[in-house]
Amino acid sequence: MTLLQNLASRLSAALEKVVGEPTAPNIAAAADLRFGDYQSNSAMVLAKKQKTNPRALAQQVLDVIEIEGIATSSIAGPGFINFTILPEAYAHYVKSLLADPKLGAPTPGEGKRVVVDFSAPNVAKPMHVGHIRSTIIGDSLCRIARFLGYDVIADNHIGDWGTQFGMILHGWKTLLDQEALEADPIAELVRVYRQVNVDTKADPSVLETCKIELVKLQAGDPENLAIWQKCIDVSKSGLQKIYDRLDVKFDHWLGESFYNDMLPGLVDEFLEKGLARESNGAVCVFSDGEKPPGEDPFKVNREDGWNDNPAIIRKADGGFLYATTDLATIKYRIDEWNVDQVWYVVGVPQQLHFRQLFDAAERWGKHGDFRHIAFGSILGEDRKLMKTRSGDNVGLSDVLEESVERAAAAIAEKNPDLVGDEAKEIAEIVGIGSVKFAELSQNRLTDYVFSWDRMLSLQGDTAPYLQYSHVRIRSIFRKLEGEFSTKGVDVVLNEPGEIHLARLLARFGEVLPFVLEDHRPNLLANYLLELARAFHSFFESCPVLKSEDSVKASRLALCQLSSDVLEKGLGLLGIRCPERM
Ligand code: ARG
Repeated sequence: MTLLQNLASRLSAALEKVVGEPTAPNIAAAADLRFGDYQSNSAMVLAKKQKTNPRALAQQVLDVIEIEGIATSSIAGPGFINFTILPEAYAHYVKSLLADPKLGAPTPGEGKRVVVDFSAPNVAKPMHVGHIRSTIIGDSLCRIARFLGYDVIADNHIGDWGTQFGMILHGWKTLLDQEALEADPIAELVRVYRQVNVDTKADPSVLETCKIELVKLQAGDPENLAIWQKCIDVSKSGLQKIYDRLDVKFDHWLGESFYNDMLPGLVDEFLEKGLARESNGAVCVFSDGEKPPGEDPFKVNREDGWNDNPAIIRKADGGFLYATTDLATIKYRIDEWNVDQVWYVVGVPQQLHFRQLFDAAERWGKHGDFRHIAFGSILGEDRKLMKTRSGDNVGLSDVLEESVERAAAAIAEKNPDLVGDEAKEIAEIVGIGSVKFAELSQNRLTDYVFSWDRMLSLQGDTAPYLQYSHVRIRSIFRKLEGEFSTKGVDVVLNEPGEIHLARLLARFGEVLPFVLEDHRPNLLANYLLELARAFHSFFESCPVLKSEDSVKASRLALCQLSSDVLEKGLGLLGIRCPERM
């Protein structure tokens, strides 16, 4: 049980005594340490309901709350209750963490199964920096959810079916460079796709040819199916290389094509059940009129008032759409996998698609906790959408490559003793970690400016700063004579630096559930920065190796736990810690 849970249950008991019925407490870490460690506004909330004086009610609560030996309390402002944890309570709790492999993390996910739908690039289109966000955020959410006890299914819903294949098939048959395909399959597919795109604009008959190729593919033409399969295979193996480098793993790759056979039946079912109807030859889902128009994803406000904003699930020419596939996907996940939740890590522009999807699924009787975990764009240093000089999207593998190169240069400058394979390995860990941390330390909804210098700096709010902090702690243990074990060590907290470090160590298990409440890995990233800063000020003000035996053991235990929490926390962001730097 975390200290927060401990206080919350004591507060809950006290509230029940005062108001005579079970009452859920409101309590959270205080925003400012001058107000203590935790703060509750429960007395104010209750007093408002009962129309009594909030400060007086707060006093009644404090008269009966049992927190002796754990915290002191006081009333502030209009009726806040502030709690300050006693150093001995921190010491006791931190000691328990030394023997806890979960480092205080609770398991709120137990018994819950969630699909995390992330990355999901489109075949034969390059994976661009926008996909970086989905891949990195999604992977981190998977790691955190697993750590908190969820049964996680990581599913890469790749775009492996769709109209782009008309162009790819035509290009494959007329423009393909076999050697280039073997050397870099994705690059060659992208080249071919782009060239055909240009050709169709110059000559409309090319577009016709592409359409014919697409129709043949959809009708199951063996030659086209074989080419399509080949495209999927080479794309997947190209993607796999990037995922390996990022250390991102999927349990499934059920792309759009997997659901093909289910689409005709789905549309028929929607028609039969009255969930969809024909409109100009197409089949569409319309509003059911149950929601106020402002909240209805099937209504749109134009100058002349509220209009229908249907989702097409079958085009007039018989083709199916993204929405149709996503409905089939929801059904599959619920019926076959029995999931309780689905988290879609996809950019903000698809917001309407997901609102319509969730609404239609609900009406269809596919119930679950579906979340669109949206994110903004990555901007270049000129604050415009990040592009290469030629105006293309920046490829993810180029970003990773450049980051690792820059990290290698920085390491060579800082520590010329590191050479060969070791230097390479460290550059890889630092370079990849920097890209991930730059992403994960941002609020996902804001656009962020991609800056090499900022994300690789040793002094800033960066992966290298945290990795270096970890290296420094490990080096303390290397200087020790003999092995150190935290077993049986008594943690004693006297100095402010020790108490503050313990306070942050105790928060690890409290931060993680918050991360998943709103799917914000940046809360964990920021916590780790705060922890590292607390460690450095502790280390400056409290000698470790030169102190007397019991103090030394206690401080070494704090060092050990700091190193464990940093390593675990970075690991949950998908970032590794090098031994040296
Ligand atoms: N392939 C899509 C894209 O790149 C993302 C798919 C997201 N997942 C889903 N179930 N719709 O835009």
